[in-house]
Amino acid sequence: MPNRSEVAYFGAGPAPLPTPVIEASAQAFINFNDTGLSLAELSHRSPTANKILADAKDALAALYDIPTDEYDIIFMQAGGTGEFSAAVQNLVGCWIETRRRKAVADLGEGKDEEVLERVKRDIENELKVDYLVTGSWSLKASQEATRLLGAKFVNVAVDARKSNNGKFGKIPDESEWKLTPKGSAFTYMCDNETVDGVEFPSFPKSLQQDDERIVVADMSSNFVSKKLDIRKYSVIFGGAQKNLGITGITVVIIRKSLLSLVPPPTFLHALSPVIPTSGALPPIMFSFSTIAANNSLYNTLPIFNLYVATLVLQSLVSTYGKVDGQEEVANRKAKLIYDTLDAHPDLYHVVPDKSVRSRMNVCVRIISGQKPGGSVTPDEAKEKAFLAGAEKRGLLGLKGHRSVGGLRASNYNAVPPEHMQKLVDWLVEFAKSQ
Ligand SMILES: Cc1ncc(COP(=O)(O)O)c(C=O)c1O
Repeated sequence: MPNRSEVAYFGAGPAPLPTPVIEASAQAFINFNDTGLSLAELSHRSPTANKILADAKDALAALYDIPTDEYDIIFMQAGGTGEFSAAVQNLVGCWIETRRRKAVADLGEGKDEEVLERVKRDIENELKVDYLVTGSWSLKASQEATRLLGAKFVNVAVDARKSNNGKFGKIPDESEWKLTPKGSAFTYMCDNETVDGVEFPSFPKSLQQDDERIVVADMSSNFVSKKLDIRKYSVIFGGAQKNLGITGITVVIIRKSLLSLVPPPTFLHALSPVIPTSGALPPIMFSFSTIAANNSLYNTLPIFNLYVATLVLQSLVSTYGKVDGQEEVANRKAKLIYDTLDAHPDLYHVVPDKSVRSRMNVCVRIISGQKPGGSVTPDEAKEKAFLAGAEKRGLLGLKGHRSVGGLRASNYNAVPPEHMQKLVDWLVEFAKSQ
């Protein structure tokens, strides 16, 4: 059985954790701070749990410079996938509540029937949610919106496959996007597409131009890996199991002003069948305002899992202060591997276009040379040989996602530069042997 020091792990998620975090978490699982109890045995309502929660929020706010008077940080469950549903249900609810309040203001109190009819008309004529579909995860999120709301309310503003031979790998120019001009309930983007290795190189300009646009970003796989202007987003979410910690908690950073826009459930019931009630009424566990009002402790939050994330965040703060320092390291490691791959274009083909290469998930096919015109033929036998050689060298978790094939090297925060160097050494050695 290999020792931890003998393996370098590049899995896409669950992903590596810093070894000191693993060690401290293991100790906390056995006997937390000499209490004689495992942290997993302690109440989520104890002062200990509250301190862990407060520490996590403080560290995250420090790393990202989150204006905490305007934004709340909450911890939920059900992973990134849970947020695909929660984003729709909460934010469509916000949109409806805004329209309901406007109707009440225009028509006066006590005009319940007229208000209801007005909001029904608004929904039928104006409600849209916008999706930027740039990879497999934003596709899944858009499918969930369609399942919850019905297709007529979902505007796929861009489907990146359409301009790239049916495959993800490029983000079409913003001039080609068909965003709802004004007033969509939200615009959804996945900042880093884990499966396809596609990352937005910067915040889209067209989303910036409209102050009122509510932008939701899935940052599950590039969380705390780069500096952000938080105010450009209304909701940022991420499952913990890549850069943040272990599976079981999901972090949500949300603009506080959205939390009060909750329509009365009876009003939502009365809107059916114009809109399915499930499209705007989250299960209580998915209600952002309920979770925020209860400091993430509406029900039993897995405090041990939160503790792991707290340790990760605190170690980033103590090493770098702000996220910028981590960003530099991530960029350096990403450059090292991409430069190596680019130096062998007849053997290694980076799947996504250069303009959108992910700094976190490096997707590669091993090919049998380039054809004129740039088309490539993957060589699965070579890929198998590469992976077998990698395993012998303790380089693990490199198999590409089944929908893309080839190799995927995830360059998460906890992958040390020495591990990336070992992988690069094997890439070079393999290339020389061909
Ligand atoms: C970008 C992204 N979003 C969402 C998900 C889904 O996360 P979960 O499995 O936690 O539901 C993943 C999982 O890998 C992901 O990479």
